[in-house]
Amino acid sequence: MTAVTLPREKPSSGNGEADRTAPVRAPPPLTLCGTDPSRAVTFPTGMLLAPMEGITDRCYRDLALDLGHVGGACSEFQRVSSSVLPTKVFRRELGPVRDDVPVGVQIMASGTEYLGRSVENAVAIGAPWIDLNFGCPVKRVVNKCAGSALLDHPDALHAIVAETVAATGVPVTAKIRAGVQGDALLDDVLDACADAGAAGVILHARLRRHSYAEPAQWEWISRATKRLRERGVPLIGNGGIDTASDVQRMLDTTDCDSVMIGRAAFKNPWIFREAAGGAPPSFDEAYAFAQRYFDELLPPGGNPRAVARFKQFLLNYAAAGFDRVIAPDRDRLLREHDPAIFRAWLANTRATAVSLDVREPNAHTEG
Ligand SMILES: Cc1cc2nc3c(=O)[nH]c(=O)nc-3n(C[C@H](O)[C@H](O)[C@H](O)COP(=O)(O)O)c2cc1C
Repeated sequence: MTAVTLPREKPSSGNGEADRTAPVRAPPPLTLCGTDPSRAVTFPTGMLLAPMEGITDRCYRDLALDLGHVGGACSEFQRVSSSVLPTKVFRRELGPVRDDVPVGVQIMASGTEYLGRSVENAVAIGAPWIDLNFGCPVKRVVNKCAGSALLDHPDALHAIVAETVAATGVPVTAKIRAGVQGDALLDDVLDACADAGAAGVILHARLRRHSYAEPAQWEWISRATKRLRERGVPLIGNGGIDTASDVQRMLDTTDCDSVMIGRAAFKNPWIFREAAGGAPPSFDEAYAFAQRYFDELLPPGGNPRAVARFKQFLLNYAAAGFDRVIAPDRDRLLREHDPAIFRAWLANTRATAVSLDVREPNAHTEG
C-alpha cells in the first residue's frame, strides 16, 4: 500500500455560521429500526465514524471507539461479486462484537446474486446493522457497476437494498453520494432507498465526479433530510466536517438526524469528544493513541507489511500538534520499512514534542 496524505477540505458551501454562544452538547442518540423491531439499533450519540478503506480497519476503529462519544461505525466495504462471502471474512473485519457501540458491516454489490446469503452470514457473526455502499468512486469498482455507479440506476439500487432488507431483520442503511455527474437523480435514489425498506440513509454531500477536496454541498443534506423525513427515514449527513464545531453546524443548517465524520476523525479521533463539549486531547493522550495503534498493528513478530498502514497514519495524524512532531522526520520515515525504526522514533516523540514546544505541561487528560 502506498501511503497517501488525505486531501484537506476546502470550506464547505452553504453551511451557514455556527452559533458560538450555544452550549455544546453531543448530538442526540439515533435509533434505526429494520423489519424486526426487536433488533433495532441505537447509536448512543448521533455521530458516526465513517468507513474508510485502508484506514478504519478493526484496529484503528476499536481504538477510536474506545475514546468514547462515537455513536457507531461500520467496517470498510466488503465486496460481494462472484461468490457468497463467508462468515470468516466478516468475523475478521468485525472482530469481537462490541456491546457499547453498534459496529455494522458495509457491503458493496452490483447485483443481488450472492447478496442475501452474504448478508445472512454477516448478521450470523453478530453484525447489528448492514450498510450498503453506493458511494465508492474508484474506477475498478464503478466499471463493475458497483458503488457510486448505481446512483445512475435507481432501479438496480432499489433491488440491492430490497434484497438486503429481505435477508435480515437488522436495520439496513444505504450510503450514497448526491449523484454521478449531477444531482438530477438524487430524489429518485432517495425514494428507491425508502421504497426498498432502508432504515436510514447516509448522504456524502458530493458527486462522484468531485474529488474529496471539493467543498461538500450541505444543501443536498437539507434536501434529502426533508424528503426522507416525510417517509420516516432518518438521514445521516456526511462530508465536510473538518472541526468539532462543524458537527453542530451541520445539524443546525441541514436539520439532518445525525452526522458521520471521515477524514477529520483520522486526523483527530477526539473530534467526537470535542463535539460533545469535551476538551481537545493532550499531547500525552495523542502519544498514547499512536503508541497503542503501533503496538496493535505491529506486535513483535507481526506482519511487517503493516508498516504501510502506520505510515498512512503518521502522514495524517495531527491530534494535539502531533503533525508538528512528525514533520521533521516525515520524509525519512516514509522511506523506512523496518518496524524497529518506527518503534524507536515513537519512543522519542515526547522529547521531540518538548523541544518543539508542542507538549503542554498541564494538559488535560480526561479518560
Ligand atoms: C481513504 C478513504 C477511504 C474510504 N473508504 C470508504 C469505504 O470503504 N466505504 C465508504 O462508504 N466510504 C469510504 N470513504 C468515504 C468516507 O466514508 C466519507 O464518505 C468521505 O470521506 C466524506 O466524509 P469526510 O468529508 O468527513 O471525510 C473513504 C474515504 C477516504 C478518504
